Amino acid sequence: MSAITLENVSLAFAAKPQPFTVLEDINLSLSKGEFVVLLGPSGCGKSTILNLVAGFTQPDSGRVAAGGKTVRQPGPDRGMIFQQPNLFPWLSVLDNVTFGPRLGKHRKDATNALAHDWLARVGLKGFEHHAPWQLSGGMKQRVALARAWLPQPEVLLLDEPFGALDAQTRLMMQELLRDAWLSTGTTLLFVTHDVEEALFLADRILIMSAKPGKIVEEIALPFGRERDIETLAEHPRYSEIKHHVLHRVRQEAKRHLG
Ligand SMILES: Nc1ncnc2c1ncn2[C@@H]1O[C@H](COP(=O)(O)OP(=O)(O)OP(=O)(O)O)[C@@H](O)[C@H]1O
Ligand SMILES: [Mg+2]
Repeated sequence: MSAITLENVSLAFAAKPQPFTVLEDINLSLSKGEFVVLLGPSGCGKSTILNLVAGFTQPDSGRVAAGGKTVRQPGPDRGMIFQQPNLFPWLSVLDNVTFGPRLGKHRKDATNALAHDWLARVGLKGFEHHAPWQLSGGMKQRVALARAWLPQPEVLLLDEPFGALDAQTRLMMQELLRDAWLSTGTTLLFVTHDVEEALFLADRILIMSAKPGKIVEEIALPFGRERDIETLAEHPRYSEIKHHVLHRVRQEAKRHLG
C-alpha cells in the first residue's frame, strides 16, 4: 500500500478575470519509507502539494490519500516542517518539542522520555531547558525536527527546511535527516531548490513545471541509501545526473519566466 497517493488532483484558486489553475492532473505515489524530493520553479505548486497531503487544503477534483485513507483534515500521522522553525519563544526546547502531545492525553513521563531521546538524536542533549533565543538557526531547526518526529508520524512533509541555513549547517542537517529517516522508516516528501541537496537525499526526484503545476519528469536515483556526502560525487553517474537535473530545472524556470 502507498503511504501517499495523489490521483488526478487538480486545484484552482479564485482569481480575476478567471480562476487560476495551480495544479493540473497531478498523479503521485510514494511507497512506505520512500524519500521523494520535489524540484521546480517558484510558484509551480510544490507547497500546495504538501498542503494537500497535510490536509490544510482540499483538491477541486481527484483524490489525496495517506495510508490508503482519503485526506480530509490534518492528523498526527502527517507532520510538517517549514523553512522557519516556528518555535514558541516563551517555551523551553523541551516544552516546544512536547507541546503537541501535551495537548492530548499522552502520559507526561513517556512523552518526556521520548523528547529527551529525540533531542539527543539531533545533538541537543543538554539544551532541553534552553530558550529558543539561546539557540543558533541550525539548532532551532533541529528542535523542529525532534518535535515533528516525536509523535511517530507515518509521513513527514518538509518545505525547504534547510533553505535558510548556511552551507555547512545545511550539510550537517541533511546528514542528520538521513540518519533519522533511515532509522525510523518514515515516508518523506521534501521540497527544495537545491539540486545537490536533492541528489544527496532522495530515492526519487520529481521535477515540476509551472502554470499550471505538473510533474514533468521523474528520476529514480541509482546511488543507494547508504550515501556518503564526501564520496557521492565519485559515483560514476553522479555528474551526468546532476547535469541533467540542473538543466531540466533551469529549463522549467526559464520557460516560466519567458
Ligand atoms: N491560498 C491561495 N490562494 C490563492 N493563490 C494561492 C494560494 N496558495 C498558493 N497560491 C498560488 O499558487 C501558486 C503556487 O504556490 P506554491 O506556494 O504552492 O508554490 P511553490 O512551488 O511552493 O513556490 P516557492 O518555490 O516560491 O515556494 C502561486 O502562484 C501562489 O501565488
Ligand atoms: Mg513553496
